[in-house]
Amino acid sequence: MTDFVTIAADDPQAQDYSDQLKRQIAARIEQQGGWLSFADYMHDCLYTPGLGYYSAGSHKLGAGGDFTTAPEISPLFGRALAVHIADIGRQLAQFDMLEFGAGSGKLAVDILQQLKQLDALPDHYLILETSADLQQKQRELIEKHLPTLAERVVWLTNMPSDFKGIMLANEVCDAMPVHLLEFSEEGVTEQGVSITSDGFGWQNKAIEDPRLLNRAADIRKQIGAQRYQTEVNLFATDWLQSVADSLSQGAIFIIDYGYPFAEYYRPERTQGTLRCYYRQQAHDNPLVLQGLQDITAHIDFTALAEQALANGLDVTGFHEQSDFLLAGDITLLATELEQESDPVDWLKHSSALKQLLMPGAMGHQFKVLSLCRDLDLLPRLQMQDRRYQL
Ligand SMILES: C[S@@+](CC[C@H](N)C(=O)[O-])C[C@H]1O[C@@H](n2cnc3c(N)ncnc32)[C@H](O)[C@@H]1O
Repeated sequence: MTDFVTIAADDPQAQDYSDQLKRQIAARIEQQGGWLSFADYMHDCLYTPGLGYYSAGSHKLGAGGDFTTAPEISPLFGRALAVHIADIGRQLAQFDMLEFGAGSGKLAVDILQQLKQLDALPDHYLILETSADLQQKQRELIEKHLPTLAERVVWLTNMPSDFKGIMLANEVCDAMPVHLLEFSEEGVTEQGVSITSDGFGWQNKAIEDPRLLNRAADIRKQIGAQRYQTEVNLFATDWLQSVADSLSQGAIFIIDYGYPFAEYYRPERTQGTLRCYYRQQAHDNPLVLQGLQDITAHIDFTALAEQALANGLDVTGFHEQSDFLLAGDITLLATELEQESDPVDWLKHSSALKQLLMPGAMGHQFKVLSLCRDLDLLPRLQMQDRRYQL
């Protein structure tokens, strides 16, 4: 990992917020005896109320932000997802939708519009969003584009109980804090953050958490005796456990960049997958720009599938994003969109479609894990299914 890449924050007010957050994190490190696990550090950088990357008012998503997600690229992403959702909705007759981490609200708008067209609207479209700032943005976008459906949209503060319907998390798990592990000839340690004369620095400690120790042992078997740095996402498996507990009947779609275990922890991937994004610029130093940059890591889909099974869910599909969207009739939906667009708009839409589907773009990097409870077979999920890789 490159230490201390300097990327100047170009907005003095933003720099001031970042400095406040740094002081808070430094105080926490001191309180904890000089060392903070990277997972706690990442949590504070992203989610400290009023100052964290996802909790403060900076512009994150879309062309002018730090990164662009599939719903921001094209309405066809949400429309194709809605085709899958409608299939399940018809099986359940009456159902709710629950979207985790709804970003700008664009995906909710696209899904609801398409479900209306398919005559398969949920009773409620629930949103569970940790960021108050993003909740406000979502409210405004939904009221603007869906005035007649807005009353079905409800923001939750906690996981519901006895939920019947479809749950969706697009690029949510990759925003959850990860633990960093360093393997050397001597053994494996956990990387954390300490205070140095010029800011924050890395410091390693023996691993104490038994779950991390178990995961480290599995990774060691995979990578051999070499030096290696990587991440483990315990937050995502804990989150899935509470999601599974809440689902009484229906499906969960988890969409994100990531790999099955064997590919994630390939011996050649010696530096892990942790990345930072600031104004569409990717780099690998999370110890700068606190609160101003996104910090993210890929998802280990095998860990999620194992957690789902442990919680009594069926793992019903594992697809590359392109295959999942094609099974959701995206090409047919694109033809409809072409008919309703002028030629210039259509050029933009068709280039966005390529980005969603092309192997070198999002088509293969993003995967869809489909989990179900108490549902009949879903024929669309049978096509190009890759569960054998998990
Ligand atoms: C990378 S953004 C993706 C936004 C949106 N899903 C999209 O595709 O444009 C990650 C989102 O996940 C939210 N988030 C992170 N952890 C969460 C959790 N445990 N529950 C709900 N939302 C969460 C963040 O606040 C943020 O809105």
